[in-house]
Amino acid sequence: MTDGGELNTTLLRSQRCELAEDVGSNASVNPTMGEIIAQRMSRRDLAKGILAVSAITAIASPLIGAGEARAQAANTTPSFNFKEIAAGSDDKHYVAEGYDADVLIRWGDPVLPGAPEFDAYQQTPAKQAGQFGYNNDYLGYIPIDGKSDHGLLCVNHEYTNEELMFPDLPGRQDMGRAYGTNFAQMTKAHADIEMMAHGGSVVEVRKVSGKWQVVKDSRFNRRITAETEMMITGPAAGHERMKTNADPTGTRVRGMFNNCAGGRTPWGTWVTCEENINGYFWGRITEQHPEFRNFRRMGIPGNWQNWGQYHDRFDIQKEPREANRFGWVVEIDPFDPTFVPRKRTALGRFKHEGAAGITNKDGRYVIYQGDDERFDYVYKFVTEGKVDPANRAANMDLLDKGTLQVGRFDATGAGEWLALVHGQGPLTATNGFNSQADVVIEARRAADLLGATKMDRPEDVEANPVTNKVYVMLTNNSRRVAGQVDAANPRSDNRFGHIIEITPPDADHTATMFTWEILVKCGDPSVASVGSTFHPNTTKDGWFGMPDNCAIDALGRLWISTDGNSQTRTGRADGVWAMETAGTQRGTSKLFYRVPNGAELCGPEFTPDMETFFVAVQHPGEPDDDDPTSKPASFTNVSTRWPDFKPNVPPRPSIVAITKKGGGKIGV
Ligand code: FEO
Ligand code: CA
Ligand code: CA
Repeated sequence: MTDGGELNTTLLRSQRCELAEDVGSNASVNPTMGEIIAQRMSRRDLAKGILAVSAITAIASPLIGAGEARAQAANTTPSFNFKEIAAGSDDKHYVAEGYDADVLIRWGDPVLPGAPEFDAYQQTPAKQAGQFGYNNDYLGYIPIDGKSDHGLLCVNHEYTNEELMFPDLPGRQDMGRAYGTNFAQMTKAHADIEMMAHGGSVVEVRKVSGKWQVVKDSRFNRRITAETEMMITGPAAGHERMKTNADPTGTRVRGMFNNCAGGRTPWGTWVTCEENINGYFWGRITEQHPEFRNFRRMGIPGNWQNWGQYHDRFDIQKEPREANRFGWVVEIDPFDPTFVPRKRTALGRFKHEGAAGITNKDGRYVIYQGDDERFDYVYKFVTEGKVDPANRAANMDLLDKGTLQVGRFDATGAGEWLALVHGQGPLTATNGFNSQADVVIEARRAADLLGATKMDRPEDVEANPVTNKVYVMLTNNSRRVAGQVDAANPRSDNRFGHIIEITPPDADHTATMFTWEILVKCGDPSVASVGSTFHPNTTKDGWFGMPDNCAIDALGRLWISTDGNSQTRTGRADGVWAMETAGTQRGTSKLFYRVPNGAELCGPEFTPDMETFFVAVQHPGEPDDDDPTSKPASFTNVSTRWPDFKPNVPPRPSIVAITKKGGGKIGV
């Protein structure tokens, strides 16, 4: 696993987003997969369950006022109106009756003017640089002139599946329970195509006669890749630890990669988050190297890509500081195709899942962030300045100054945001922090010293602008053992994840204190040992595992998308579920859309008018890793050929636009 730099060695790709090694033998966990919840819960249990959920809500929400409690109690009817689809998995995608789910853009479709149509057999780095990238994850819809039928889609291309992309590679190597890539079979062209398929895309889109289409040759259309010139801003900019041979200033860097989730700001920019950047570095440094402790905490080198074979900057032996220039939040102005993306170092360096924000009532901007690793943390960043709604230019560098904070979740149901500020508490030279640059570069180690709570892989963290509640998706953590459980991460061997709801006092997102409670523990409610807590009204189709991304619609309703469900693990594909968060239905979820085999669902995003729900279908065609009989994936061995269903066309990660037949708001 740490044997990087050795060519001709088969190296594991064991850690991407949903981690292959995290897959347990699930046969004993879900013996009654597909059985209805009612088989376990009698009618009497159902009644008790409803009472229990209500009681827990009342006790654990000290900040709920009498008025709000009365309003919640009065809310006895479901807030979502659609007919739930059946859970399951096959090679197609499904949406609720009365809706259309149309593929809008696929991996390889032309983005830039003059880019060729997709042909997997004739792919080159130059072609890929003008085409839609691979593995669309986050997507943000930024309206043009406030419109809900014309805007810019900002899309992250998180990673590549070389085993599915390239007809001239043999596919993943079968290594028992783990699959790896034999880098010796990969050429520089493969690596360079991968580099061009990473990053992000800006695509102008327009709804014409009720159907979305890409605006071809738009002046806004843009590809960001692993080679795009970027600027480093904030406390780490220009610091010694950010300087390389190619950039002695420590302020310029080429590219971004493994951009997972993200956010969009009220001033119309796209924030896109580098997550598992460790996998892109290989080579060796010794324990005496000054960056050794830093790299170990980030898992560098990860050895999942062989880019370092052809590009010295990815070899930590040759250019160790390059790895300090990744793992940041990047801000991009999608309205200016010449804009140099900014790596905003004030927001810290870790494995960022997303960066959803909210304008606080005092005008400061607050960004919530998850660090997606087992036992890592939930962060927030509070800007020093205030959003100026009348002056876009005045907001453009707002993310360079502010306070990064990390969450401690106490057993009392209270919590505290701990500031990562150089010179305060343990963040001093004694512990290797000589400046704020050191603090943000090693944000994880700083948070360790502050006593933050180790969470079960924090993914999306989103604030609800209607209620000011904040939702934390904790996707899973099968490595937590009984002695490590705490109130906020209450299950050992947490295979299915849970969702925490944070309440800031007086709706003040800049406050130091907060209260929290668990909205739902995920997994099959019909299996007692799983300990899930979906509302008993949830059907056999309505429960899920592994929450990853989420969206909050204009009515303040929560929609959750998942990564890691499969026929073997949960008897269902990933998808998007609507989740009740208030009243007597709180904790009830309902399946709205599901993806084809092998895919996860990312980037759920509504247009402001709620008439379109964009979703990103990532890595369709991967094998069911939980199934011991599944064969390693390859260009020819795929679990679906969605969306083209042509024999020689590989499955293609795609953006899907969901609309109501005849028009109208989604789920209303
Ligand atoms: Fe890229 Fe945390 O999922
Ligand atoms: Ca994911
Ligand atoms: Ca994710």
